[in-house]
Amino acid sequence: MAAILGFGGYVPERIVTNDDWATRLDTSDEWITQRAGIKRRRFAAEDQATLDLALEASRKALADAGLEPADLDEIVLATDTPEYLTPDTAALVQHSLGCRNIPTYDLGGSGCAGFIQALDVAASRVATGVRHILVIGVEVITRLISLEDRTTAVLFGDGAGAVVLGHGPGRAEVLGAVSGTDGSAAGILTLAAGGTRNPFNERTLANGDFNRLVMDGKKVFTEAVKRMSEASMQVLEKVGRSLSEVKLVIPHQANRRIIDAVAHRLGIAEDRVYVNVHEYGNIGSATVPFALWEAVGAGRVGAGDLVVLTAFGAGFHWGAAALQF
Ligand code: UT7
Repeated sequence: MAAILGFGGYVPERIVTNDDWATRLDTSDEWITQRAGIKRRRFAAEDQATLDLALEASRKALADAGLEPADLDEIVLATDTPEYLTPDTAALVQHSLGCRNIPTYDLGGSGCAGFIQALDVAASRVATGVRHILVIGVEVITRLISLEDRTTAVLFGDGAGAVVLGHGPGRAEVLGAVSGTDGSAAGILTLAAGGTRNPFNERTLANGDFNRLVMDGKKVFTEAVKRMSEASMQVLEKVGRSLSEVKLVIPHQANRRIIDAVAHRLGIAEDRVYVNVHEYGNIGSATVPFALWEAVGAGRVGAGDLVVLTAFGAGFHWGAAALQF
């Protein structure tokens, strides 16, 4: 069975508070706190891009696993904000880490559910005999979405998380995962420009589409609560475990109200749900692996604990994974 051998996480140093945003946009600490539960988030430094954040988290995960880059056999990287449109950021990670010529691929565009999808795919690769796979979730969202649009800008931050997956026994076995997609809801969360339908050009620049994140907040909210609660229960059923055995649920951190609603729907107390959205905002596909790394480091989970990860994102995608520490 696939197991997590090491955990890593990284956020850039620069902190942007709600008050900082209020000096720039027509918003307030009160609105952002009430509606989203976010107090501050991190912004990548000007000389940092996606690769830099991915490398920081990856090096920590490798060190935690007691492995060298040469021990890796495959890299999968989930992101919606790659270093370049092509090639994949994972190839750049491979070279920068000094790995062998191992295969790499990005799992792009799955929004905040990307890491769980990547973990699910990587676990199946381990089952086919691949020894060590680096699985990364990373975003520099603040560089690719409009910082002028208050309805989306204040919600996001930058960061990275990574795990090394291999054959158990490791730190945590991946008992199983579930994923789902409803492509009919693709329009509720999407970037207005950048692909072949509406490429970046003078027109998209002129009409404000260039870096506009289209988001139907209320629909995303409702879908997120429903899909994360259902996926959590489905993965437990799949691996033959019950909610009462779960030490900690680590949900995607987009909005404190979404997290609370999932806890309410699952019927579990606050202390069994991990929350760091107040500190980092929504860091896309980095959210779950970063929170996992933080929770392990803080001693919130350890040997013997059953943990459920769950996320949702543009697609509309969702997923959950069950980990036995
Ligand atoms: O990883 C996936 C990423 N996305 C999500 O997870 C989004 C899920 N949805 C949400 O988190 C919430 O829907 C939001 C936080 C985005 C919005 O909360 P809401 O309670 O649904 O507010 P709303 O969209 O109904 O907006 C209420 C008002 C509007 O003004 P009017 O039309 O009532 O006059 C907005 O223009 O709040 C206004 N508003 C703001 N005001 C101050 C929107 N953004 C801001 C802002 N500051 N930053």
